[in-house]
Parts: sequence; structure tokens; C-alpha cells
Amino acid sequence: MNVQGFVSTRAFKLGLFILCLFPLARLVVLAVTGGLGANPIEFITRSTGTWTMVGLLLTLSVTPLRRLTGWTALVRHRRMLGLFAFFYASLHFVTYIWLDQFFDLASVARDIVKRPFITVGFAAFVLLIPLALTSTQAMMRRLGRRWQQLHRLVYGIAILGVLHYLWLVKQDLTQPLIYGGVLALLLGARLPRVAGLLQGMAPRVASRSG
Ligand code: HEM
Repeated sequence: MNVQGFVSTRAFKLGLFILCLFPLARLVVLAVTGGLGANPIEFITRSTGTWTMVGLLLTLSVTPLRRLTGWTALVRHRRMLGLFAFFYASLHFVTYIWLDQFFDLASVARDIVKRPFITVGFAAFVLLIPLALTSTQAMMRRLGRRWQQLHRLVYGIAILGVLHYLWLVKQDLTQPLIYGGVLALLLGARLPRVAGLLQGMAPRVASRSG
């Protein structure tokens, strides 16, 4: 079986699903074994924030990777990756609202208004909700062209995610800049000329790996 065939299998899908659950399983194991460190809330917030960002970047890498490799079956897994990004964003948000703010909604509202990194993170989270709600095949059919337009919001959401991280770090900007760099590459790969170039390489790469 070639790579394209393997990517289409249920085993690949299941493997990817299990991989996506790994960050949550790790948090549960660390929580049970007392491995979350001196500040468990910070640990959970940071971990879920990281995996939201990684999930968004993985979702955005599907199309350029498909163009480059010719493995069209990759697109079948984009929805799962996007929904996992939303899942970790929800955990991130719930950790903040519940464990950090103890459901003090007035304090949360003050934070959203007064702390720019929270404002930007919150905007990104709110924008993710319609994408998650319309991620089904039925909604795709129902919305037609508007579905694609709506889902372009993910580019802005990922930019807001990077800004959120850049805004919250106080000293070492390395990690948010790495995310920003990867995002710039993934967005750049969508420019018509670059996309055409990647597509032009596809048959060669696909036949090499075939
Ligand atoms: C798509 C939405 C979001 C993304 C991509 C995201 C991403 C991140 C990332 C990458 C971190 C840093 C992790 C690290 O230190 O290694 C982080 C931290 C954090 N985020 Fe978010 N976030 C999002 C939404 C939100 C929302 C909605 C809130 C709350 C309203 C929030 C509150 C926080 C807080 C409190 C921290 C920890 C700050 C600290 O350590 O001082 N985030 N987030």
C-alpha cells in the first residue's frame, strides 16, 4: 500500500485520533500522580494553550501538505484536527474561567476588557465557535460557497492566537515567534503563486514516495 492509500485507512484515522488525545491523557496522568508542579493551574493553562495553537497550525498545514505531496486523502482528517484545536481551546478557556477565576464572571469580563492578551485570546475562542458548529458535512452542503468564506476565519484566529501568546510572554519571545514563523509559512503557502509551485511539485513527490 502506498502512503496515499495508508492515509485513507481507518487505522490512520484512529491513530491520529489517539495521538490528538495524548495531550489530555498526559494531563490526566500528571494530575493523578501529582506531576503538575508547584502551580497546577498554570501548568494546565499553558499546556492546553500550547495544544490549541499546535492544533490550529496542524489544521492549517493540511492544504499545503496536500498540494506538495499530492496525498489528497489528507483533507479527510482536517476536520478532526480542527475540532481537536477547538476541544483544547475549550479546555483552556474552562481552566481559566473555572480554576483561575472561580466563575467570577464580573472579574472575567474585566479581564477581557482590560488585559489585551485575554481580549485577543477570547476573540479567537469566540470566532472558533461558528467554525466548530459548521464543521459537519451537512453544514458544508447547506452553506455552499459561504462555508469556505466562513472557514477562512481560521487564518485570523491563528493570527490572534500568536498575538495572544506574544502579548502574554514577558521576556523570552522565542516560542511565540516560532509559532508566528510557522504560521507565516503556512499562510504564505496559500498565495496563488506559491500554491501553484507546490502543486507543480506534487506528482514528483507523490511518485517518489508512492
Ligand atoms: C484560539 C484561542 C487561544 C489560543 C490559540 C491560546 C493559546 C495560548 C498559548 C500558546 C499560551 C501560552 C502557553 C505557554 O506558556 O506555553 C496561552 C496562555 C494563556 N492563555 Fe490562551 N489561547 C487562546 C484563548 C484563550 C482564552 C479565551 C483565554 C481566556 C479568556 C486565554 C487565557 C490564557 C491564559 C490566562 C494563559 C496563561 C498566561 C500566563 O501563563 O501568564 N487563552 N494561550
